[in-house]
Amino acid sequence: MLETRTRSQEVAERHREFIFPAVATYYGDEPLVVDRAKDQYVWDIEGKRYLDFFGGVLTVSVGHCNDEVTAAIHAQLDRVQHTTTLYVNEVMVKVAQKVAEKTPGRLQKCFFTSSGSEANETAIMAARAYTGQSDVITLRHAYSGRTATAMSLTAHGTWRLGGVFDGTIKHVRNPYVYRAPAGLDAERLLDLCVQDLEETLATVTSGRIAAFMAEPIQGVGGFIVAPEDYFRRILPIVREAGGLFIADEVQTGWGRTGRYWCGIEHWGVEPDIMTFAKGMANGSPIGCTIATPEVADALKGLTFATFGGNPVTMAAALATIEYIERHDLVRHAEVQGERFLSRLRALQDDHAFVGDVRGMGLMAGLELVASPGKTPDPARATALVAAARTRGLLIGKGGLYGNVVRLAPHLNVRPGDLDDGLDLLAQALDDVA
Ligand SMILES: Cc1ncc(COP(=O)(O)O)c(C=O)c1O
Repeated sequence: MLETRTRSQEVAERHREFIFPAVATYYGDEPLVVDRAKDQYVWDIEGKRYLDFFGGVLTVSVGHCNDEVTAAIHAQLDRVQHTTTLYVNEVMVKVAQKVAEKTPGRLQKCFFTSSGSEANETAIMAARAYTGQSDVITLRHAYSGRTATAMSLTAHGTWRLGGVFDGTIKHVRNPYVYRAPAGLDAERLLDLCVQDLEETLATVTSGRIAAFMAEPIQGVGGFIVAPEDYFRRILPIVREAGGLFIADEVQTGWGRTGRYWCGIEHWGVEPDIMTFAKGMANGSPIGCTIATPEVADALKGLTFATFGGNPVTMAAALATIEYIERHDLVRHAEVQGERFLSRLRALQDDHAFVGDVRGMGLMAGLELVASPGKTPDPARATALVAAARTRGLLIGKGGLYGNVVRLAPHLNVRPGDLDDGLDLLAQALDDVA
């Protein structure tokens, strides 16, 4: 009998043969082999269509192959594709000016790279140069990327490959309200976070630090949203120790959380450095570190990024930001986000294994637990992601325990598509009940 393999199976087999196995894919032995995508949809190589509620990890922010972004990329490709930072290109300067306009406080000078990891690496380098200190404090459950410094900042054992770590980076308790120690409400949890920060400063640093770094909403951590007072309580202690505040906006930037361009604005505090990547250029490889003028100016000497500020990437970023502006998507994310979260909460009412629904704007997580307790249920999360795929919906996964399902429709999601996706999710939830 003839063996009949699908094209997806064939490609997956060659993927296994020629790609590092550490490059993990979703869906076990049957990874999704993407053939093409347009706006809200992705097609696999067999021609099956999926509604995309993950955007390649919150990166496709204004729809796949968005006409306006693609046109800007094409035009730039025909003009000049590469300069390096040794020459000046105008589109890079335009993007930098936009970033300065859209970020809060006195953030003004940008450094462009090609990924969030590099953006965070640059942020730490700048903070150390400015303060003359090396110790950095960040949060447990953080994900900061895959360079040596970024992995040292990361606090998920599974993502700390390699074993060479920067010992000057210390992790403190994160404000994970759903998993606060028994009996502690959000307020008491913040007391504990403050206490842990103070003890960490006193015991494993010199008392003077370069920076405190945090994601406003921990992304890979499972969309953990800091309580309203968190940063207002933590930052005075950080400043007292001479530390700068670095907000990692790789997932939360560019309107993702609704109402504001940057996630941290919901907490009413001003970072000294911010980092962006992912959704900033709708899928073109970008990293961006913005700092106050005095912090940027402190990074003396020479540093170079071959692809930093690449004109094609910058054209994609400018077109993405202008698209978000022109279509008022920051507001759209707020309005649709409220509808999204309230429908998800209704789904939670019908499914006891959905322990928590949380998020902001168009970034929402469902934490799955073995009912009636809060025991993480990663197997059900994996099954839910697979069931959604079968139903034609792409969703993501995360959380330290692998039990949080992550949803992030494009910022320009149409209300009808939002409803369709939620209907498919409801069916998938029933499938795994
Ligand atoms: C919050 C955050 N920071 C940094 C990074 C690293 O970005 P990249 O994968 O582009 O290096 C990620 C990636 O998921 C992230 O979620």
